[in-house]
Amino acid sequence: MALDYKIGSEKQVAVLNIVKFPDPMLRLKAKPVQTFDKSLQKLIDDMFETLRAAPGVGLAAPQIGQSLRLVVVEYADEEKEDAKPKTYVLVNPEIIKTSEETVMGSEGCLSVPGLAGDVERHEMVTVKAKNRYGQPMKITARGWLARIFQHEIDHLDGILYIDRAKNIYELSDEELAELKD
Ligand code: NI
Repeated sequence: MALDYKIGSEKQVAVLNIVKFPDPMLRLKAKPVQTFDKSLQKLIDDMFETLRAAPGVGLAAPQIGQSLRLVVVEYADEEKEDAKPKTYVLVNPEIIKTSEETVMGSEGCLSVPGLAGDVERHEMVTVKAKNRYGQPMKITARGWLARIFQHEIDHLDGILYIDRAKNIYELSDEELAELKD
């Protein structure tokens, strides 16, 4: 319970520090979220703020030093015209279905700066999770969104993409920014 939360206080968001490899926090199995209280809402808002400042497309709570099973994603599907970024909050997510088909793609990670690697992922995943208010949800994602979900959910089990990558290479910040596009 967040008893110290001041009701009526102005909503403020903060950019949090991103934990970098090889910090042991990134290797822990994160704990399930138990309470959907105001401090969780604040943490989620701060994680989105941190993600946008980075910038990146996905962030898992261990990456900001909280060992919790919580992921935020903000991603615009560029294959769709006039695609606006969509936000996703996955609390205690579980991948319950995967396609047999896999695809290779380049990944980077905000916790592993300057590097990218080619990783094989399921083309499609179905994720069961709770939303930020604790309501159950299910979402099926394909392509890049499916890749982002798999990358972020791996973070909750202490797995980094560099563990799965076929090859890892150095990239300049410019090239990394392009990769994110
Ligand atoms: Ni990552």
